[in-house]
Amino acid sequence: MQTIVVYKSISGFTKKYAEWIADELNADIFKLSQTNKNILEKYDTIIYGGGLHAVGIAGLKKMKKMLQEIKNKKLLVFATGASPRKKGLIDKIKKDNLNNENIELFYFRGGFDFGKLSLGYKILMFIFVNILKLKPKKTEDDIGMISAYEKPVDFTKKEYINDLIASVSK
Ligand SMILES: Cc1cc2nc3c(=O)[nH]c(=O)nc-3n(C[C@H](O)[C@H](O)[C@H](O)COP(=O)(O)O)c2cc1C
Repeated sequence: MQTIVVYKSISGFTKKYAEWIADELNADIFKLSQTNKNILEKYDTIIYGGGLHAVGIAGLKKMKKMLQEIKNKKLLVFATGASPRKKGLIDKIKKDNLNNENIELFYFRGGFDFGKLSLGYKILMFIFVNILKLKPKKTEDDIGMISAYEKPVDFTKKEYINDLIASVSK
C-alpha cells in the first residue's frame, strides 16, 4: 500500500507531525505547494495536514479540489492548533471543514511562534491579540493565546499521532 503525507505549515508545527507520520508509515512526504493531481494519483492512501486558522484548516480547500477528480483513495486529515484538545473540538472542526463527509479527522496540539509567521499573519495576529486583551472576560484559550503571542510555545508530542497511525494500518 502506497501512502503519501501532504502538509501545509506556516511555522513548522504541522511539518513536524507530517514528518513523524511519514517516518512511522514509511510514506512519501510532500509540501502542498509541491503536490499535484498526477503525484496524488500514484498513492492509495493520502494523509493531509494543516494548521487551524480560526475555523479553517490551512490548505484543505486546495487539497480537496485536487482530489475531486481522483477516485478510490483513502483520505485522512489532521489539523494542528495552539489550543488544547477538548470535548467537541473534532466535531466542530469537521463541521467547519468537511461538511459531514466520511473522512477521518485527527487533531494534534501544535504551538505558536509569532517570530516564524509571515508579515501578513503577524499583522493579523497583532490585531487579534489586541482585541483579546480588551475583552473584559477572557476565556482560558484567550489567556493562552495572549501568553503564546508574547513567548513561543511548543506542545507537539509524537505520541499524539498514534491513533492516526493505527487507523492507516488497519
Ligand atoms: C492566523 C492564525 C489563526 C489561528 N487560529 C487558531 C485557532 O483558531 N485555533 C487554534 O487552536 N490555533 C490557531 N492558530 C495557531 C495555529 O493553528 C498553530 O500555531 C498551528 O500549530 C500552526 O501550525 P503550522 O506552524 O504548521 O502552520 C492560529 C494561527 C494563526 C497564524
